[in-house]
Amino acid sequence: MESGKQLTGTLALAVFAAALGSLQYGYSLGVINAPQKVIEKHYGRSLGVWTEGATGHPENSTEEEVGNHPTVVIYWSLSVAIFSIGGMLSSFLVGFVGDLKGRVKGMLMVNVLAVAAGLLMGLCQMWKPHIMVISGRAVMGFYCGLTSGLVPMYIGEIAPKAYRGALGTLHQLAIVIGILISQVLGLDFVLGNDDMWPLLLGLSGAPAVLQTLLLPLCPESPRYLYIVQGKEQEARKSLCRLRGPYDTTSDLEEMRREKEEADKEARVSILSLIRSSVYRQQLFVALMMHLSQQLSGINAIFYYSTAIFAQAGVSQPVYATIGVGVINTVFTMVSVALVDRAGRRSLTLIGLGGMCCCAVAMTVGLALQNQFIWMSYVSMSAIFLFVSFFEIGPGPIPWFIVAELFSQGPRPAAIALAGCCNWTSNFIVGMTFPYIQVWLGCYVFILFAVLLFGFTVFTYLRVPETKGKTFEEIAAVFQKGRKKPEQIPKDDNVYRCVTAVYGCVPADL
Ligand code: GLC
Repeated sequence: MESGKQLTGTLALAVFAAALGSLQYGYSLGVINAPQKVIEKHYGRSLGVWTEGATGHPENSTEEEVGNHPTVVIYWSLSVAIFSIGGMLSSFLVGFVGDLKGRVKGMLMVNVLAVAAGLLMGLCQMWKPHIMVISGRAVMGFYCGLTSGLVPMYIGEIAPKAYRGALGTLHQLAIVIGILISQVLGLDFVLGNDDMWPLLLGLSGAPAVLQTLLLPLCPESPRYLYIVQGKEQEARKSLCRLRGPYDTTSDLEEMRREKEEADKEARVSILSLIRSSVYRQQLFVALMMHLSQQLSGINAIFYYSTAIFAQAGVSQPVYATIGVGVINTVFTMVSVALVDRAGRRSLTLIGLGGMCCCAVAMTVGLALQNQFIWMSYVSMSAIFLFVSFFEIGPGPIPWFIVAELFSQGPRPAAIALAGCCNWTSNFIVGMTFPYIQVWLGCYVFILFAVLLFGFTVFTYLRVPETKGKTFEEIAAVFQKGRKKPEQIPKDDNVYRCVTAVYGCVPADL
């Protein structure tokens, strides 16, 4: 293997340590679902609504009655939603935090938030649980908004070009493992019960403790050191720590060119990125990819799969939901293995197209299950396949492709904007899905099928392949007016990208 392309122990450690932040994000996403009834009961007790329950006798009130009490409904909905609101707000700060003291120190600093959030939730019985949990979820959401940008940024910057896709996908792999762990721990005979639920929620802060111990051992991103801070020697040292001793000349040369470009322009803020016509193409692609991830309806499946399985006639829907978590994890691993071979563009296309077909199958299954018993198998298989197609491409790729699409100057601002778009659309789907479900009934997934079809066509027409390219080559594909044509390497892949972006190869190529 060519030196400098090796997967060293230090690189593995750095990626593992960073991905602990993603694990925490996944755990926090999933943890709130299983113990809903138990937590509602405790909210009801501390809000004093047991005595105002439908029967007037606390000991006679059922969990259902407590859960339906308007005050409990408000506090419960807030506990779920405040997480996304925290994430939406903080995702704007990713660029600032990442550039302030570096990627590693940035991740290290924000762990204070995760630990504080874990403590607020873990110790919620000491005061008013509903206030403690809502505060904890808000702080945790704020933390996750930061980590969901900082982790892909760091991994994207330290990964050797040949493994950038596989290592970038580990962010999503850690998210799905986090979701799965939370689903298993949330079972009522594990931690999802009356006594243990505060621990279940509090554990969301645990990976931050481990990460705080490991991050000081990880090298800072060489791109940050050289391009942002101008420390060439330190960048060289960091490269050698990450990749083993090798000739760093060509990597440093690439960074030097990127630095020259970055030095020519003022710092790219979020506002200037939105206004700039230079980055418009990239930004459009990045935001559309994040929108396609969320508006595919994946979280409708995650948040409501238990109800969907119950509707499809499964007697133990909780276990079917865990089955979804397992499939989710397995297919993310498949993506790790494929993404640097098959490429981002083809996997996204296959994924979105496959999900579109599954959404149609799910609708047919749900609509006809009363006429034909076997139709419930159709809708269940469609759910499993839907999730598999998601994890092949549309799940992991948007997270890391933004770091690939932008050069060092605009990268932090772009990651911040894309993250905010992701969190906002996630929040909108989460809030509106139950209403849309009531409105469209079993035809609800047709809506996602239509959106998925649109995103598939968009990907086909506008998303270039970034596999195996330097950041400079990728930027060149988009910067039609900025680079001279001869600076764009005339290799086949770039030709294909240019064709994909412009619809044809410009005459001078
Ligand atoms: C992605 C999405 C997240 C979703 C998860 C499911 O990370 O961003 O919203 O819950 O995939 O695997």
